[in-house]
Amino acid sequence: MEIIISVRNTLLGFLYRAILRPVLFLIEAETVHNLAINTGRFLGSNPVTRFKTGVLFNYSNKTLSQELAGIRFKNPIGLAAGFDKDGYLTNILPSVGFGFAEIGSVTGEPCSGNPKPRLWRIPKSKGIVVNYGLRNEGCKKISKRLGNKNFSIPVGVNVAKTNSAKTSVLKDGIADYVKAYKSFLEIGAFFTINISCPNAFGGEPFTDPGKLELLLAEIDKTETKKPIFLKMPPDLPTSQVDEIINVAERHKITGFVCSNLTKKRIKLADKSVPVAGGISGKPAEAASNELISYIYRKFGKKFVIIGCGGVFSAEDAYKKIKLGASLIELITGMIYDGPQVVAEINQGLARLLKKDGLESLSEAVGLDNRPE
Ligand SMILES: Cc1cc2nc3c(=O)[nH]c(=O)nc-3n(C[C@H](O)[C@H](O)[C@H](O)COP(=O)(O)O)c2cc1C
Repeated sequence: MEIIISVRNTLLGFLYRAILRPVLFLIEAETVHNLAINTGRFLGSNPVTRFKTGVLFNYSNKTLSQELAGIRFKNPIGLAAGFDKDGYLTNILPSVGFGFAEIGSVTGEPCSGNPKPRLWRIPKSKGIVVNYGLRNEGCKKISKRLGNKNFSIPVGVNVAKTNSAKTSVLKDGIADYVKAYKSFLEIGAFFTINISCPNAFGGEPFTDPGKLELLLAEIDKTETKKPIFLKMPPDLPTSQVDEIINVAERHKITGFVCSNLTKKRIKLADKSVPVAGGISGKPAEAASNELISYIYRKFGKKFVIIGCGGVFSAEDAYKKIKLGASLIELITGMIYDGPQVVAEINQGLARLLKKDGLESLSEAVGLDNRPE
């Protein structure tokens, strides 16, 4: 069976890279994103298309299963926030092979985002410049639509504050986060609080420890049984990371998503790179790995770390896991290499675990990075 799946993945990967990607990359990036959402919605809409998608993309291996913060993950590869902004893909993502997913970022009010164009590929650097500005349908509409759904994988709701002048006033910004958070108390398996959107009005105020303290104190007032993660920016000095973690320790924070888009534009192979927006993919990988490593070295398994940024292969994912990440999220690897990359990474991880003589993925977490 493993060989058949290997051949299937190789074939699908070849077809994607040789035929589909060159065509898709001729079309404007946001149009392709919308096309992917519509295709995913259609495939998720009935059991036959879900089953057929599963035959093409699924992979399972019990060594990849973990229980973390009371949630069972059948594999560690999740869809990062920002691809399924409005939660339209929750039916199809399990058939694509994902072990979990984050929807959003969802904000207190609907938001059309920044003016277009706002999404660009930088293929030589294997990245994407993202300046969406938190486009989403808003917490009311999205929570209403997802309210009575049973998800077959853990779904996290990534909440942020609406991209507007109003929410740049501290009190209104906090109220906006809390509104989005409260709308999803009964929906999904975990929350992520996004304090690191690089392309919204007023910057990233909640990376300031004092303001984060106020936000988390307000969140604490409405109890949830669900774990809460903080989505970190990759570009902060370690002193500020320390301060954010100090605040997190005083509140009910289960872990960190390391990390969001990078604002740095160093060493990019592409000649012209838009100045606005944050960058995903390979340009975000090193900083993500450094942050995972830093937090794990200081805190070990006290926090659950979700590694995110530049994962294109099983080796990339395994590196993050050995630095201390228990789970992995991705978007850009799937855009450059095709949706079969999820099964490729999962199968590759199972192989790498076996090669290292490990019986389960959790044994590999932090293996190359001893806590102090
Ligand atoms: C098109 C796109 C939109 C994104 N939108 C969001 C978002 O709304 N909220 C968020 O927390 N992260 C967002 N991100 C960041 C991703 O969740 C992730 O942190 C980043 O892309 C690094 O992972 P990758 O290299 O695998 O893409 C977005 C990324 C992309 C590519």
